[in-house]
Amino acid sequence: MRRNIVSDGAGQLKYEIREIVEVAKHLSAMGLEITFENIGDPVEKGEIVPEWIKEKVLGLAACDSSYRYVDTQGFPETREFLARIINDRGGCQVTMDDIIFFNGLGDAVAKLFGFLKREARVIGPTPAYSTLSSAEASHSGYEHLTYELDPDKAWMPDIDDLENKIRYNPSIAGILLINPDNPTGAVYPASLLKKMISLAEEYDLFIICDETYVHIVYDDNEKVHLSQVIGDVPGIALRSISKEYPWPGARCGWLEVFNKEKDGEFKRYIRSLVDAKRLEVCSTSLPQMSIPQVYSDDRYLIHLKNRNRIFSQRAKEAFDIFSSTKGIKVNLPRGAFYMTILFETGVLTNRQTLPIENQDIKAYIETIVQDVPPDKRFIYYLLGGRGICAVPLTGFCSDRQGFRVTLLETDDNKRRGTWKTLKQSIEEYLAV
Ligand SMILES: Cc1ncc(COP(=O)(O)O)c(C=O)c1O
Repeated sequence: MRRNIVSDGAGQLKYEIREIVEVAKHLSAMGLEITFENIGDPVEKGEIVPEWIKEKVLGLAACDSSYRYVDTQGFPETREFLARIINDRGGCQVTMDDIIFFNGLGDAVAKLFGFLKREARVIGPTPAYSTLSSAEASHSGYEHLTYELDPDKAWMPDIDDLENKIRYNPSIAGILLINPDNPTGAVYPASLLKKMISLAEEYDLFIICDETYVHIVYDDNEKVHLSQVIGDVPGIALRSISKEYPWPGARCGWLEVFNKEKDGEFKRYIRSLVDAKRLEVCSTSLPQMSIPQVYSDDRYLIHLKNRNRIFSQRAKEAFDIFSSTKGIKVNLPRGAFYMTILFETGVLTNRQTLPIENQDIKAYIETIVQDVPPDKRFIYYLLGGRGICAVPLTGFCSDRQGFRVTLLETDDNKRRGTWKTLKQSIEEYLAV
């Protein structure tokens, strides 16, 4: 090529959650049966979307008006409806102009970082959800800036670490958090959110809060929306129907923008996101149109409660199995549907293996474990030896060693079987 055509940030685009699937597919072609524990898609794992939600979607599919474009920011009735819900909660008040629809949060995240000034950095958690950390790293051309989530404090953000990094790095313009969190399952209380917001206020930063899982909080844990605690700080909440209805294939997510009128720079940034969306006309119409119908139906709250009860039971089941396993550390998930399993410091070596009967698979695994982080080595052996596909923690922008499992498998026997196999595999691997 006459010119270098590759963007400076291209090397930062990593999505381990799906990259591991390439290895799994290769093994599948070699005859191995795989249990996929990597993707957070409830439908893929057997969850049935309630009939009444499907009926509403079918009703919309039968209307001619569902087939047109909608406004660039999204279907007006839905934006008005969502603004009303936010305002009824108390806290920050919004109008329909503060709601912007995207083709899933994947699209929203690409725009959020794609139209942020390159020198303006957003600090996010480690471990991190890869779509967010990769998009931020790619926009800046450098590694993602991170603050620690503390596994010894139920994966709560280390506020001192966050403040130190903000104080000594003037390029930081924003703080990113995920609540409830992927991959840890942590849920942040209002008191902690307020501390993060105070930091944003003190250092004149904006907040991005990913609330994909805000309706998946178990038991008595506090469910707090950013709008309820943000005060006067500029902020954005990320919402989606992917994990709620659940309808990940709808590719329907939206931004809720808070306090845009209180900061001219922030307002111009938000306008650039809408201008960018305008070039695409709008996001897919029909899923947006379904939101007022589904959210206002009394059955929705019952649906969410039932799911949360099920995820809570599965979280306890996983915790019981893994908390008694030597060499690892786990925290009970309180929301979302993930659990992070952390290896204790120093227990992993580059000599550990799991037995693999098939000699071709063994040879392949032995090739790909060269020069990979220790947790990825375990994951490759787990895949080749036991056919379980999980995501190594180092794939979540983390220096800690571990992996993530989901709480999504609907077949009780299969789920318990997978976790027991995982426990035995960890014990066998660490005993080498
Ligand atoms: C924290 C978080 N944010 C965003 C997304 C993406 O959601 P969407 O399907 O709306 O693109 C996911 C998907 O797993 C997620 O876990």
